[in-house]
Amino acid sequence: MNTIAQTYRLGDRDVGRLGYGAMQLAGPGVFGPPADEGRAIQVLRDAIDAGVRHIDTSDFYGPHTTNQLIKKALYPYPDDLVIVTKVGARRDAQGGWLSAFTPQELTRAVEDNLRHLGLESMEVVNLRSMLDVHHPVEGALEPQLEALIALKERGLIRHIGLSNVTPTQVKAALKMTPVACVQNLYNLAHRQDDDLIAWLASEGIAYVPFFPLGGFSPLQSDRLNAVAASLNVTPMQVALAWLLQRSPNILLIPGTSSPEHLRENLAAKDLALTPDVVAELDKVGG
Ligand SMILES: NC(=O)c1ccc[n+]([C@@H]2O[C@H](COP(=O)([O-])OP(=O)(O)OC[C@H]3O[C@@H](n4cnc5c(N)ncnc54)[C@H](OP(=O)(O)O)[C@@H]3O)[C@@H](O)[C@H]2O)c1
Repeated sequence: MNTIAQTYRLGDRDVGRLGYGAMQLAGPGVFGPPADEGRAIQVLRDAIDAGVRHIDTSDFYGPHTTNQLIKKALYPYPDDLVIVTKVGARRDAQGGWLSAFTPQELTRAVEDNLRHLGLESMEVVNLRSMLDVHHPVEGALEPQLEALIALKERGLIRHIGLSNVTPTQVKAALKMTPVACVQNLYNLAHRQDDDLIAWLASEGIAYVPFFPLGGFSPLQSDRLNAVAASLNVTPMQVALAWLLQRSPNILLIPGTSSPEHLRENLAAKDLALTPDVVAELDKVGG
């Protein structure tokens, strides 16, 4: 029997540990509309029909595209749906990623998210550190957090999360505000946050790995493939099941533009891995 916890606290709600990341619904390079809007809308509706109640998005996906698709597909939203957005970046006319990290830009970004999603209040807004686009780097986030705290006081945000951050930044933020979740790059092959995940678990804070399947180039590993073949499941299902077993505070938001991949990914919640298999998979990261 699979004894892995099926839910974890995110803001005000317990959500299923398998959520959905909407970034892949935009066009190539997360820029512009999808080639097949009907398929994108189907993925979102299938996710909700399958019980997903945690969707990760941002207004800078497209830009605006994924939020507009989410609204088109799902509005009016189920009462228990938790939509999490992130702020801190913007796009240029060619799809390049730029920092939008001033308090004024963050405030405008939250307002844009609310408008495009058709919401009066965001359940969770992640402050996505743009001190470096690709890696968490140390640096003060106080002015940015103060801006989000002000939005919380205005009722536009219910909970604050952090993304692309170091343990030091998480601890500094916690002196200013409760933190609902931390969203950093982490998967079977990128395990730099092992200690942070354990510490967050001890504090009751959700950890939401982005690129849980490896991102734009999904994980490639002979060891992972061999384990999947031995269990008669797919490598991506094993990668997700490993994350679910890794720590109870991990909430998953695998991204896909495919209804078939969505179904496959959601089925990972029923896949229990024995300690021997986990030990074998742990070698992928080493
Ligand atoms: N905070 C941040 O800075 C940040 C950064 C990146 C992402 N995110 C969030 O994290 C979410 C997850 O990351 P992600 O979507 O970039 O990467 P991911 O979930 O690691 O992987 C997505 C990729 O895997 C493919 N895929 C998904 N399911 C598959 C399956 N069952 N079999 C084979 N391939 C499969 C997808 O292609 P198909 O479309 O063909 O299935 C896509 O190319 C995003 O959607 C976004 O919401 C946050």
